[in-house]
Amino acid sequence: MTGPDPVSLWRRLADASVLLDGFHALKHAVRFGADVPVAVAVDRGAALALAEELAPDVRDTLDALLTQVPESVYASLVPRPHPTAVAALAVRPSRVAHLERLAHTPRTAPVVVLDHPRNLGNAGAVIRLAAGFGATGVVTTGTLDPWHPTVVRAGAGLHFATAVERLTVAELPAGPVFALDPEGDDIRGVKLPDDAVLAFGSERSGLSPELRARAGRLVALPMRPQVSSYNLATSVAMTLYHWSLGGS
Ligand SMILES: C[S@@+](CC[C@H](N)C(=O)[O-])C[C@H]1O[C@@H](n2cnc3c(N)ncnc32)[C@H](O)[C@@H]1O
Repeated sequence: MTGPDPVSLWRRLADASVLLDGFHALKHAVRFGADVPVAVAVDRGAALALAEELAPDVRDTLDALLTQVPESVYASLVPRPHPTAVAALAVRPSRVAHLERLAHTPRTAPVVVLDHPRNLGNAGAVIRLAAGFGATGVVTTGTLDPWHPTVVRAGAGLHFATAVERLTVAELPAGPVFALDPEGDDIRGVKLPDDAVLAFGSERSGLSPELRARAGRLVALPMRPQVSSYNLATSVAMTLYHWSLGGS
């Protein structure tokens, strides 16, 4: 007995699923255990050759998953074509499981909090950083959906490598809150513990009053005079790197 054809399955699942846009997003999602019910490629052979070259660990999984579809069908399934002409749908991980992961103690790696972020690309870049550094998760406050397709695209499929959720400040996981702010103490003299909650302000207005009130300490990244601030994602990168070095 054969299952439903991939295109019908796609159309049925698309609204409730996470779009994995391109080969690299699919590769990362598979590596980090995403449940992928359907995956398509305009040139299945080329996609598998790419897997052989760049990701032999997932080649067999992709071989079992990928269905070749005509270019016109692929274009009708995705909002904008990706250069690799590969796309897939993944099941969004359960919020309950994420909340458990975020709350689990003792925590061995920080949680990153983006307080009212605005830019979808920044949020995706931060999720990619959190995945790379093995952070426990990325929490956003405010209206931005951290699972928005543009965030997932910018995160290169690495949402599945960490716990990504939207919470209120009152719901933030327990742990010492270090809030990043140019007016804080120089980070070079601060040891960031593994259970830290590292909070970053919005691109427009910095940290909200609620987050400031929750912060145990304000911490600054070195900046020469006359530069007012760094980009949000680059600030997260420097801070996670500082944490990864251990000492103060
Ligand atoms: C683009 S900045 C926000 C600029 C905003 N106009 C403000 O008033 O703070 C976004 C976030 O990156 C972090 N950030 C940027 N530069 C920083 C620095 N030199 N030290 C600590 N955090 C910094 C802060 O968390 C800040 O809220």
